[in-house]
Amino acid sequence: MNFELTEEHLMIQQAARDFAQNELKPGVIERDENQSFPAEQVKKMAELGFLGMMVDPKYGGGGMDTISYVLAMEEISKVDASCSVIMSVNNSLVCWGLETFGTEEQKQKYLVPLAKGEIIGAFCLSEPEAGSDATSQRTTAIEHGDHYLINGTKNWITNGSSASVYLVIAQTYPEKGHKGINAFIVEKGTPGFVIGPKENKLGIRGSDTHSLMFTDVKVPKENRIGEDGFGFKFAMKTLTGGRIGIAAQALGIASGAYELALAYSKERKAFGKPISQHQAIQFKLADMATQIEAARLLCLKSAWHKDNDMDYGLSSSMAKLYSSKVAMDTTIEAVQIHGGYGFVKEYHVERLMRDAKITQIYEGTSEVQKIVISRAILD
Ligand code: CAA
Repeated sequence: MNFELTEEHLMIQQAARDFAQNELKPGVIERDENQSFPAEQVKKMAELGFLGMMVDPKYGGGGMDTISYVLAMEEISKVDASCSVIMSVNNSLVCWGLETFGTEEQKQKYLVPLAKGEIIGAFCLSEPEAGSDATSQRTTAIEHGDHYLINGTKNWITNGSSASVYLVIAQTYPEKGHKGINAFIVEKGTPGFVIGPKENKLGIRGSDTHSLMFTDVKVPKENRIGEDGFGFKFAMKTLTGGRIGIAAQALGIASGAYELALAYSKERKAFGKPISQHQAIQFKLADMATQIEAARLLCLKSAWHKDNDMDYGLSSSMAKLYSSKVAMDTTIEAVQIHGGYGFVKEYHVERLMRDAKITQIYEGTSEVQKIVISRAILD
């Protein structure tokens, strides 16, 4: 078993690290404070190929593997988890779903600009009454001749107002339950499609999260993704890969907080010596480093499963469950190590602690990951 990263992986990791430190760090506190969408930074991510990393170059992507994606996600999330969720949704949920299940026409029309980062996309599954219980879709998509009419409301949509293309999951045959669900490509600006106000969030405040309202939104039949009734499987398969991205985001939040705490502990003196020389702090750092390494191995193993066409349902849920817990635990300890300084914005760790929480909620709560894991191990 070889745990070494290749030269190419190391280069991608370094490029993402440099980008995060040079381009994302300046202004990250203000963007969080003001909830400003990082438009300029997203443009730069597109130029560097971070928005369509795994897409085939013939569709405008970077043709990289999932390991490269995990490495880049970790580095970007260390500094700005708002940018990394925008990146993750575009790569894992929107580009991957279209590349894997879209028609050639859909790929040419939508995937190419999404992979190049000329536009960004959103993935619309959650509803006011369908979060973890994703089969309970109330949004309907009823066939009318050459089009569908979509009616309903979607909640908690990342890239809600900044996206140009939305993958919308809706129920076409309510009597068939999840087998009657479809997925559609909906363009911003389609009449009847209204974007609700921006959510005022605890963390990832730079990313724009909105509710979306659909009233008789006319979507051409050629915008349905996959066979009639494939929508729920489309969503589940897409989310399975998405969980690797969010696991890597959680890993990055944890390792970002750990690196800050480690550096601070060497500088800050108490009782006549740097606090890193006190065993109370050393034990915290030892736990953080060990848990982060374990989370990293789970993320990379799941990415490796995906890159080698192996089943990655179990490993992606394990990676997400564990990394998100490590993100929460590590960021709390990083604030503790910083003492009072950890509680103020200039030291970054309080933001990372707030950002960590969402990784236990979106793309399947920790409880959903435990459902997936327990089903797999009991199967
Ligand atoms: N891949 C392929 N098919 C799958 C699948 C997967 N990973 N998971 C389930 N399915 C299939 C099942 O095989 C089944 O199909 P058949 O009837 O043909 O056998 C069908 O889907 C229904 O599956 P279940 O019976 O397992 O469904 P369930 O109601 O028990 O739910 C669940 C399972 C795991 C809880 C699922 O509902 C789930 O993942 N919920 C969480 C939803 C979620 O992650 N939402 C996140 C929103 S997106 C987001 O957060 C993005 C963002 O903005 C950052």
